[in-house]
Amino acid sequence: MKKTKRMLGIGSIILILLFTAACGGGGDGGDGGSSGKKGGKSTGIVLGFSQVGAESGWRTANTESIKQAAAEAGIELKFSDAQQKQENQIKAIRSFIQQKVDVIAFSPVVESGWDTVLQEAKEAGIPVVLADRAIDSEDDSLYVSFIGSDFVEEGRKAGQWLAEYFKDAKEPVNIVELQGTTGSAPAIDRKKGFEEEIKKNPNLRIIASQTGDFTRAKGKEVMQSFLQAYDDIDVLYAHNDDMGLGAIQAIEAAGLVPGKDIIIITVDAVRDGMQAAAEGKINFIVECNPLFGPQLMELVKDIAAGKEVPKRISVIESTFTSEQAREALPTRKY
Ligand code: AHR
Repeated sequence: MKKTKRMLGIGSIILILLFTAACGGGGDGGDGGSSGKKGGKSTGIVLGFSQVGAESGWRTANTESIKQAAAEAGIELKFSDAQQKQENQIKAIRSFIQQKVDVIAFSPVVESGWDTVLQEAKEAGIPVVLADRAIDSEDDSLYVSFIGSDFVEEGRKAGQWLAEYFKDAKEPVNIVELQGTTGSAPAIDRKKGFEEEIKKNPNLRIIASQTGDFTRAKGKEVMQSFLQAYDDIDVLYAHNDDMGLGAIQAIEAAGLVPGKDIIIITVDAVRDGMQAAAEGKINFIVECNPLFGPQLMELVKDIAAGKEVPKRISVIESTFTSEQAREALPTRKY
């Protein structure tokens, strides 16, 4: 039930929008830093944005997209990097409230524990947008809109592909799973969606599942421990490309061939992941598009203008086999 609330409930307006590419560029970074120098005529709107961190290629592309889009839209951006710590995000949100920004947006590092600080923003009359990740709260009046991917659906797509791949298997298929940051929406939802699908094929079973915190280093470390503990791993499901890429290093170091001895599925489809897929080291990637900066800025402008905005803005995303990755790579934007 809580989950239903988190996903914004029946009656929420669902807008499905295709992302437009908006990569490259930059802008000022750093905590408390502002950007908005390149591009657009100033709107006078100030946006405080608290980012999760710089844990993955996806996150870097997302940060670039937000900074560039703010500059182009003429929105002054106060950008804060939380270094994957919730306490830093709470501090940043409080600081944005003190600075009386017009709108606060943030990508929550974990799902729960936001009610108090978001209530403070509400009392200060500052609208809040959830970007990329949802929160787990009974009170959906604490934010005006949520823009981001459907992580459960991403997990389902991964599970569906695997179920089809092993549909004729006569023996158990042993899966190891590298989860994202514990307690984060993508880790919870990608696991859920994947499990929903693989349950339909009794031969598919997860023999080990551990967090790799969405980073390459942790992905490698955890995969090393999986390989030491099990000599019969058939499949790796990693909740993002970076962990999958770290795991590939561990698999190769163990003398195994990624994509052949161990079938690999990841999520994100960032350039490095797509490159590995094109080389046949990753068999299937589910896309999670980070380039929502331009749409976020449109949303911020509408909110600042007092317009009614959709409670939920989703995106359409794709999937890639190795062959499709080879075709898509030359024009890939991130
Ligand atoms: O919230 C999106 C996820 O966060 C991305 O899939 C992952 O790479 C990132 O760290």
